[in-house]
Order: sequence, then structure tokens, then C-alpha cells
Amino acid sequence: METILDGKKISAEIRREVKEGVETLRRERGVVPGLAFITVGEDPASLAYVAMKERACSEVGIRSGQFSFPRFTTEKELVGKIGDLNADPDIHGILIQLPLPAGLDSTAILSAVSPEKDVDGFHPFNMGKLLLGRKGFCPCTPKGIMELLIRSGGEWEGKDVVVVGRSNIVGKPLAALLMQRARGANATVTLCHTGTRNLSLHTRRADIIVVAIGKPLFLTADMVREGAVVIDVGMNRLEDKGSERGYRLVGDVNFAEVSRKAGAITPVPGGVGPMTIAILLSNTLDAARSPQCV
Ligand code: GUN
Repeated sequence: METILDGKKISAEIRREVKEGVETLRRERGVVPGLAFITVGEDPASLAYVAMKERACSEVGIRSGQFSFPRFTTEKELVGKIGDLNADPDIHGILIQLPLPAGLDSTAILSAVSPEKDVDGFHPFNMGKLLLGRKGFCPCTPKGIMELLIRSGGEWEGKDVVVVGRSNIVGKPLAALLMQRARGANATVTLCHTGTRNLSLHTRRADIIVVAIGKPLFLTADMVREGAVVIDVGMNRLEDKGSERGYRLVGDVNFAEVSRKAGAITPVPGGVGPMTIAILLSNTLDAARSPQCV
């Protein structure tokens, strides 16, 4: 396994595969995959992510469109738009960029997306299928994390994995994926969270640690066993007056110290982030290939 788990390199490999798949689909069936993004409000980080995702779509030949709503949009308006997109045959995937502004019911809005177009895998139906080990859309970051390790020459099989963070978009679905009796999974999973007593006791005995809690530089070297694999899902803006933008991006892991002890580690940026985008493209291609039977 490489010491640096290079998400930039591996995601480029996946994007190349998706691009070939998109070309074949167009040549053989005249279908061009279409992905709709819905954003609500002006959160600069969310808008920046969607711009990156749209760029990635255009590079592989996926058509995309962004539907932007003001901060105080009602659930009814959003559900109405989602209904239109569900009925549009040129749209194969619908992505609601999270987090939604406070006051909107995320579960109700995500539930309005047709499960066949739910390329983020956040619909309760797809979440349920994931837990059952059935085929369906799988959330992009967890799937990207699995692929990153496997394609870097590592494996999950039989490993003691500690996931830190129980969010619906990373921690919970990742734990569900890793615990499946399936090739490329089959790990022993411990899910830690804010209610965990003595977190270090868990992280220090892990073969693989995945941190997804949104706290800058949280995981320190004393929390990691020599040779462990460390995967950092964090993407935090840390104030930095010396930089041009006024901030720098850091993960949930203190890379400078943990990288000296870890057997392999993901950088931020250039680790998990690009993998999430690559899997989104791959899920969209799957949706366009078989709209009825995912
Ligand atoms: N916000 C942070 N990560 C994600 C993601 O993977 N998908 C969506 N829709 N929103 C996010």
C-alpha cells in the first residue's frame, strides 16, 4: 500500500472509466446522463462544492444544471421542483446539496427524490437497502473511502476499523458498508461519537481509523497506533491571515504529527474529497444506464 492514499490520482482513474462509460452509452443507446443540483441559500462552501461537481460532470460528458433557491424557500416549493425533475426523462440524477438551511426538514426533502434518481443515496429507501446489503445507490463519500483504500492496494477484510462520527452522510452509511459480508468489506466496525467515553482507547487499537466529525486537527498522534491507516474526511476552513483567501483547508486529522506514525494516510485536500466527486459521477452513469432497476 502506498503511504499517501492519493485521492487525486485514484479519482482520476475512476473519472476516466466513467468518461468511457458515458461515451459508450451515448454511442450505443443515444443516452446522455443528466444530473440536477439543487442548492438552497448562499453557503459559500456548498456553492464551491457544487461548482466543482458541475465541472467534473462536464469533463466526463455528463450534462448538469444547477437550480438555486433563496435561503427562505419553503419545503413545498422544493418538493414541487423535485417532482418536476423526477418526471423529466433527461434527468437521471438529482442531488440536494446539504446542509439545508435551518428550518427545512432534510428528511422530508430527501424523501421527495425518486429513489431511482437518488445518486447521493440519501433517500430512506436506499439507506435501508444499504443496511440490508441489497443493491441500490450508495452514498458517495463512504463508497469513495472504500474504493480509495482498495485501489491503493489496502484491504478492509478482517480489519478492526474505528469510525469516528455518526452522521447520516458519512459515519452511519460507512459503518453499514464495511460490516457487510461481501468482498472488499467484512471488517469489524466500531462506531464512535460524541457519547463515546475514552475515545483514544478505541482509536489506539484500530487497524484503520476514519475520522468524519468536522473538527479541525482533532486526531493527534497519541490517539493512533504505530502503522495504522488513517482516513481523514474533514474539510475545515481554518482562519489564516497570512493566506490570500484568509483561511486554509485542514482535515479532522493533525496530518503533520499523525503522518509520522501512520502506515498510510489521506491528505487534505486531495484525499477523500475528490473520491466523493468521482463516485457521484459513477452513480450518475449507473442511473442513466438502468433508470428502472438500480
Ligand atoms: N454535503 C457534504 N457532503 C455532501 C454530499 O456528499 N452530498 C450532498 N448532497 N451534500 C453534501
